[in-house]
Amino acid sequence: MEKKPLAKVKIRKIQKADLPACARILKSAYRRPPHQEHLAPHTARQYLEEKYQHCRQHSFVAVDNQGDVIGFQLLYISAWTSGPQAILEELAVDPKIQGQGIGKRLLDHTHHYRRSHKVKSAMLWARKDPRLLKIYRKQGYRQADDFVIMFKIF
Ligand SMILES: CC(C)(COP(=O)(O)OP(=O)(O)OC[C@H]1O[C@@H](n2cnc3c(N)ncnc32)[C@H](O)[C@@H]1OP(=O)(O)O)[C@@H](O)C(=O)NCCC(=O)NCCS
Repeated sequence: MEKKPLAKVKIRKIQKADLPACARILKSAYRRPPHQEHLAPHTARQYLEEKYQHCRQHSFVAVDNQGDVIGFQLLYISAWTSGPQAILEELAVDPKIQGQGIGKRLLDHTHHYRRSHKVKSAMLWARKDPRLLKIYRKQGYRQADDFVIMFKIF
């Protein structure tokens, strides 16, 4: 069945006062597959406060017609050899309304926004989950052949 886009969703710049709502969304969105991460409320809040410090200039929330935050993205723009590079640090949508086009709206907004900042490329890291990767592929992102993400567990 075709999913109906939510009416009257607005995208606006993030504010510090949005962080508690974003933390609730982050916590519930990552609790579900494919992540199944159990973030404590204070961890979600701390994570967002830290990212907010360097991303706030270029980050956005999606709000419904009551002004409630229903999704957000954190974007950082960094200088790079080919010109400014956008780094998508976080994207999350309230699980209650996932699949209704909010994630796509947020990504579209980034692409529109990047023009005014002369951004030449964009990068993100995502879980290797075919369904999740699909949203990025549809937006023109491709898996890099020459880079990997490396972890070390202490
Ligand atoms: C990824 C995410 C932001 C998409 O938001 P959304 O509003 O549902 O996105 P849209 O409605 O615009 O697009 C739907 C697409 O998102 C992806 N998606 C949505 N829910 C998903 C889920 N539970 N698992 C994996 N992918 C999902 C799929 O590609 C889906 O397409 P499909 O319905 O044809 O399978 C949302 O699923 C989310 O918050 N996930 C948890 C956090 C996360 O993984 N963030 C990305 C980190 S790289």
